Amino acid sequence: MILFENVGFRYGRGPDILQGLNFEIPNGEFTFITGASGAGKSSLLRLLYLDDLPTAGKISLFERDVATLTRDEIAWFRRRIGVVFQDFRLLDHLTAAENVALPLRVAGAREAAYRDNVAEMLHWVGLGEQMNVRPPQLSGGEKQRVAIARAVVASPDIILADEPTGSVDPEMAERIMQLFMEMNRLGKTIVFATHDLEMVNRSKQPRIDLTAGTINNGMAA
Ligand SMILES: Nc1ncnc2c1ncn2[C@@H]1O[C@H](COP(=O)(O)OP(=O)(O)O)[C@@H](O)[C@H]1O
Ligand SMILES: [Mg+2]
Repeated sequence: MILFENVGFRYGRGPDILQGLNFEIPNGEFTFITGASGAGKSSLLRLLYLDDLPTAGKISLFERDVATLTRDEIAWFRRRIGVVFQDFRLLDHLTAAENVALPLRVAGAREAAYRDNVAEMLHWVGLGEQMNVRPPQLSGGEKQRVAIARAVVASPDIILADEPTGSVDPEMAERIMQLFMEMNRLGKTIVFATHDLEMVNRSKQPRIDLTAGTINNGMAA
């Protein structure tokens, strides 16, 4: 469960970027974070990924106050969280399969143990044929799906996605959306940031709507 209590955030000594955020995302829920560009969606995801601590209020993750976590605990928590970054963050000198395998390698797994799992993930996102291709040779939608496969390969409990349909055509956006719905059906908690209101309105998932760093309409279902 993700719990925000009066959470505020700012970068360094800058202005408040997020203010007075109160919400709860139960385990296994699919929640959109909506809002215009600059509203604070990516900053909110940074807090969830433990890239930064809130500068006010309290965030509880897996029943813990994130401000009390040790460095080792943060590393352990991060292994339970998969992230799809807005700019993919794929390594260009590695193949699609090697990119997807990274979280498993970092966790100390051996290639023989994860090879099938990586191949299965790439088939699942429709890239079975492109396993040995490097990111510079992939389209935007293909890179996006490599990033999605990498985010889920280690079977995290929570998946964070920052505008994962932002750089693809509507057909691919729909396909990517279906992948996230499928992960959610498998029990993953999904936090999906997007400014694509049309897509959000087509779905029945709850949303947290940000306007200039504050919640607009609470958790309208
Ligand atoms: N690293 C940073 N340092 C300082 N300000 C930042 C940084 N990242 C984002 N901001 C500011 O925080 C605000 C919210 O940005 P962001 O969280 O990226 O919004 P969104 O993802 O909704 O577009 C913006 O005013 C942006 O300029
Ligand atoms: Mg953003």
